[in-house]
Amino acid sequence: MALSPQWLDELRARVTLSSIVMRTTKLQRVGREWKACCPFHNENTPSFYVNDEKGFYHCFGCEAHGDAIRWMTDQQGLPFMDAVKELAAEAGMEVPAPDPQAARRAEERASLHDVCAAAQDWFRDNLASAQGAEARAYLQRRGISHEVARQFGFGFAPTDRQALKRALSRFPEAMLIEAGLRIAVDDKAPYDRFRGRLMLPIEDARGRPIGFGGRILDENTKAPKYLNSPDTPLFDKGRTLYNLHRAAPAARQSSRMIVVEGYMDAIALAQHGFGEAVAPLGTALTETQLELLWRQVERPILCFDGDNAGQRAAMRAIARALPLLRPAHSLCIVRLPAGQDPDDLLQASGAAAMEKLLGEATGLLDALWQFERDARPLNSPEDKAGLKARLLDHVETIKHPDIQSLYRRELLDRYSAFAYPPRQQREWKAGGFNRRGAIRQSIPQLSATARTALVRASSGGTRGELSLAVIHGLARYPREIFRHEEALARLADRSAEYAEAIDLLIESAETLEENDQPTILDTSGLPAPPDKTRFSFLCEGIDPVSAVEDLAEAVSLLVERPAIEAALAAATARFASDPEGAFAEQQQLLKRKLEFEARLGQIASHKAGKADRNSDSSPMADDPGEHETDQT
Ligand code: UTP
Ligand code: MN
Repeated sequence: MALSPQWLDELRARVTLSSIVMRTTKLQRVGREWKACCPFHNENTPSFYVNDEKGFYHCFGCEAHGDAIRWMTDQQGLPFMDAVKELAAEAGMEVPAPDPQAARRAEERASLHDVCAAAQDWFRDNLASAQGAEARAYLQRRGISHEVARQFGFGFAPTDRQALKRALSRFPEAMLIEAGLRIAVDDKAPYDRFRGRLMLPIEDARGRPIGFGGRILDENTKAPKYLNSPDTPLFDKGRTLYNLHRAAPAARQSSRMIVVEGYMDAIALAQHGFGEAVAPLGTALTETQLELLWRQVERPILCFDGDNAGQRAAMRAIARALPLLRPAHSLCIVRLPAGQDPDDLLQASGAAAMEKLLGEATGLLDALWQFERDARPLNSPEDKAGLKARLLDHVETIKHPDIQSLYRRELLDRYSAFAYPPRQQREWKAGGFNRRGAIRQSIPQLSATARTALVRASSGGTRGELSLAVIHGLARYPREIFRHEEALARLADRSAEYAEAIDLLIESAETLEENDQPTILDTSGLPAPPDKTRFSFLCEGIDPVSAVEDLAEAVSLLVERPAIEAALAAATARFASDPEGAFAEQQQLLKRKLEFEARLGQIASHKAGKADRNSDSSPMADDPGEHETDQT
């Protein structure tokens, strides 16, 4: 392409971005910039800014960002060259002649558009003609109104293998083949791809037909139910969403985007008043399709069949979305009654039933949790540990660090609550946190035997030290005891040597008054803490917020290790009966164990770094605020 970077810079400099944006988006002046409710995602308070000096727009909500050309391609849906031409015309600039090869390619594309448009006209005429009678009857049987049939451009392809070639004889055979309308295999004579089928045009973002789907009319036919155009220079299945050009404006109205599996589902939804429905083209949702959806709304709703296959498809979509998650962008999942697609549901129960299901859509995290929880039986410790491993595997695929750690914390919390129901109902729990009026006069003390057990246990390597550090940490931040009560109860269950100390902590915490300044508990009965500098939550002068987060991480490390050990032991025990499976599982668990050790190492060294910085104000400290906060 002969467009030089200099020429494009000149073009950007000559157009005033705000005046272009203003045509479709209401802008409000703020100082030297303009702001608006973002046209790329749905919002009520403006976070979309246009800066004419820099020639850029930027949305702080969805991170949509670009120049005038990008605006024309992304917001107006123009192909790059069309965007450039339109802007050039406005700026009074002449578009340099493209190089001959590019010109030929563009011409080819243009004429493939002509071919598809001509084919669409012909299919449509066929449906209206005498030969379309059977297809018309089929549409009627399915309850598709004339209006909707017209809107969606239904057509008919006759059975004759050369009918399309004759009708489109003004185009060379090679173009019909390139458009995917004719099939040429080896030395055989080419023939029409779509024969004896009800035809549906698949349109691009501007509503131009770029491919077709053809449905058989007789369910007893052996041929595949739908035949689709192959990928062509115009049609890329992974980058196209069926019905997007109609659904996008509707989505702006309803602030909702519905994703269904089938063409007929999108159409049935439109007929029942849900114009904002799209469908991928018979394959799992691609990254590009997800991005297309996120340009419309923050949380597209994916509908899946409630049967097992549908749920697996939902999980595949979730797995694909996880790495792509970014702030404020997610998905919702609707689980349809088993064996019903949206079309069936609408036929059977009507729009209100659909509306109700859409209103009950499950969030991404909930759907992920529910799917994995229900995926396999959870009868043994190994099963439970397996659930946790699967959850953490998902978490690891999330690229955005904040979202990843929020997912980890939330999923582990749910896992804990589920896999380790509380040992016993504590009174304060049943009746809410009624700590007022329950103030104890004396702080309970650790017994001599418990103290000896604790000393012995905590001198036994990293894990022992971590346990003791956590106990001291909780004594410093007693409010955290409630947050981790379940995890602590589990620890007490598994490791008798900590049981009394933990009970003591919980008891002491119960004596705290609701509005009390969190006070440091009496730790004189406990063995001395390990090297304090290795754990931020034992250091003086550290930001209490990050200290309690580190403490939470330490608690979760503490309970994770025994779960891995238990699962490893179980896998080893299974060797005789299932050597292959046990081996694979053992390898996986060993990997987890190594990761665990690494995290443990990290918490120690990272804490040591923090503590050093705190004591000597190292110039390497990256956050000066950290030195000034003091939690006492
Ligand atoms: P469905 O079988 O769910 O489609 O397949 P549907 O729209 O509900 O079909 P009806 O109601 O029986 O007419 C989902 C999608 O998978 C693709 C199509 O895109 C279809 O809409 N598909 C399905 C194919 O490409 N080929 C097939 O043979 C079947
Ligand atoms: Mn269907």
